[in-house]
Amino acid sequence: MSEQRDRANNNSIRIYGTKELDAENGLRHACAMGREVLDIAGKALRPGVTTDEIDRIVHEASIERDCYPSPLNYYNFPKSVCTSVNEVICHGIPDYREVEDGDIVNLDVTTHNKGGYHGDLNETFCVGKVDDDGEKLVKTAFDCLQTALQLVKPGTLYRELGTAIHKRAQTSGCSVVRTYCGHGIGSLFHTAPNVPHYHKNKAKGIMKEGHVFTVEPMINLGVAGDTTWGDNWTAVTSDGKRSAQFEHTVLVTKSGCEILTQRENEPVMCWNPDLVHR
Ligand code: MF3
Ligand code: CO
Ligand code: CO
Repeated sequence: MSEQRDRANNNSIRIYGTKELDAENGLRHACAMGREVLDIAGKALRPGVTTDEIDRIVHEASIERDCYPSPLNYYNFPKSVCTSVNEVICHGIPDYREVEDGDIVNLDVTTHNKGGYHGDLNETFCVGKVDDDGEKLVKTAFDCLQTALQLVKPGTLYRELGTAIHKRAQTSGCSVVRTYCGHGIGSLFHTAPNVPHYHKNKAKGIMKEGHVFTVEPMINLGVAGDTTWGDNWTAVTSDGKRSAQFEHTVLVTKSGCEILTQRENEPVMCWNPDLVHR
């Protein structure tokens, strides 16, 4: 597919201007709707809720906002949201399992609005009493995203983000997943640039004002390796230890970075334990 070739080569990274960003159903709107939907889903998370119930809530909240949940039927993904529990790295499929006290649960929401734009974000929640390793992992994953976003500005090389993420993960004795990367987003769900999260990556491209992409480092307590279940989606750590992730969709501005999926009226990328505990 040309879309995937572009992504690998970081060819022709699209520049978004105010016309696409600020339109009534523009890219900013898609990202704001994704944020609202994730907040609603996150509020519903508690011991005893099934991930299918979270899926139902995400579907309904998306439709109420005149948005389509991008995951649904995306390369045959069967649900409207990814729900990745404990050792699941990403792309967990909602099912009848009840969330348990002590689980860490990532909810990854993408909304597609009537203007044809996607907004993509995720957060990992600590449900009930999570052990110290789990708490450390979730905080580390948050810090990795924060550290990377501090580098986003015109002139930064896409490949530089991985070094910063690697260093922060290493400080906590954690590893960085190599198989799944951040990605350009906008009119397409996944496009150029490809944004690896690991160090010594060879990603092509240099950030320019108007680029829109995600950063979404997946951080593991144990080894970096992953395997995929027979459902062809669920990515799990190869050693069964836990994995956590945070994701934002960002815009490169003249002087730095604007987080399009941030919460309104909230300090940017400030760690607040209350927001991730359920
Ligand atoms: N939202 C995921 C990402 O961050 C992609 C999910 S694709 C799906 O890129 F099909 F699994 F939903
Ligand atoms: Co993404
Ligand atoms: Co996502």
